[in-house]
Order: sequence, then C-alpha cells, then structure tokens
Amino acid sequence: MKKLGILLSGRGSNFEAIADNVAAGKINAEIAAVISNRADAPGLERARQRGLPALCLPSKGLEREAYDRQVVAALKERQVDLVCLAGFMRLLSSYFIREFPNRILNIHPALLPAFLGLEAQHQAWEYGVKVSGCTVHFVDEHLDHGPIIVQTSVPVMNDDTPETLAARILKEEHRIYSEAINLVLNDCIRIEGRRVILK
Ligand code: GRF
Repeated sequence: MKKLGILLSGRGSNFEAIADNVAAGKINAEIAAVISNRADAPGLERARQRGLPALCLPSKGLEREAYDRQVVAALKERQVDLVCLAGFMRLLSSYFIREFPNRILNIHPALLPAFLGLEAQHQAWEYGVKVSGCTVHFVDEHLDHGPIIVQTSVPVMNDDTPETLAARILKEEHRIYSEAINLVLNDCIRIEGRRVILK
C-alpha cells in the first residue's frame, strides 16, 4: 500500500477531503503522516481526531533547508511515497524537492499561471476574470510553478464576493486533488518538460 504524507498549515479541508476518499477506498493508499509547521493548525487537530499520525514541526526561527531536513526525515521515517501540500504555507528548498523527485503535489485556488501566491481567489475576483478555478501541480522550487496535473474551472458570477467565489473553487479543489493523487499513484501520467501527459 502506497503511503501519503500531508503537509498543512491551516484549516485542512483539502486534507480532510483526501482522508475521506482514503477511508472510502477511493484512493488506494494510506495516510502515513500529517505534518504541520504550526501547532495551532486546525487540520492537525482534525488529523488526531481521525486517529491519523499527526506531527507538529515548528518552522519558526529555522533556516529553510534546516527545517526541510526535519520534515524530510519525518516523511522518510514513515516511508512516505507521495507528499501532498494542502495549504502548507512555505516554499520548499531544492533539498526537499530532490529527496522526492516528482513526488510532491500542491493545490492552488486559481488557474495557474494566473494569480500566484496568497489569496488567489481574491486576486481573481478583483481582476474581474469571468472564469477561475483550481490547479493541482507538481512542486518545484518556485512558487506555484511545477507541471500541471489537473485543472478545473468555475464561473465567476456578477454577485460573487471573494468568499462566495472561494467556496465554489474549494468544492472543486476537494474533488480534483484526489483525482490528481490517483493519477500519480496509479502511474497514469508521464511528464514531458512542463507537460503532464495521460498515458
Ligand atoms: C486552499 O485554498 C488551497 O488551494 C491553498 O490553500 C488553501 C488551503 O485550504 N493552497 P485548506 O487548509 O485545505 O482548507
């Protein structure tokens, strides 16, 4: 059975959607570690309530690579095959990326390469786009940048607020993250440059 490691910093709704799909047998894997850089992340508590191995590794005051070495050690100790960033609010060092080549995924609440970084839903709403969405991609050293595995779009309505748009996108995030995890775990894709091709 393949092992997932989930990294999060906040509420953890994407983590919970993945955990639900694992529990329902819709993802053929087990969650071997849930790691947060913040002790107060609600997602960490939710992982504990589900009886999953949850661990806080505080990042405060540590250099990027020194911190990443701790996280990688914890993931390797639990023999994690695939790392899923789920609202993990840190850039990864090249050390981390090298330790899990093409084995780190992230979800971003916009149609990359538009609206990188924080509050992407708010950025999209403010820009006035008519369509936005979410993206699951491989992680490299650059912000919201690696090859794209799955994207899906949602409409932006006239009466949307950043919050209503974010909620519409979040529903799709919960669906496509598990879809992308399955594509990677089941070896259904190959990477050609930036392009992820379905086999
Ligand atoms: C999501 O919007 C995700 O796209 C972004 O961070 C947010 C995390 O939300 N990367 P949650 O903690 O999964 O609820």
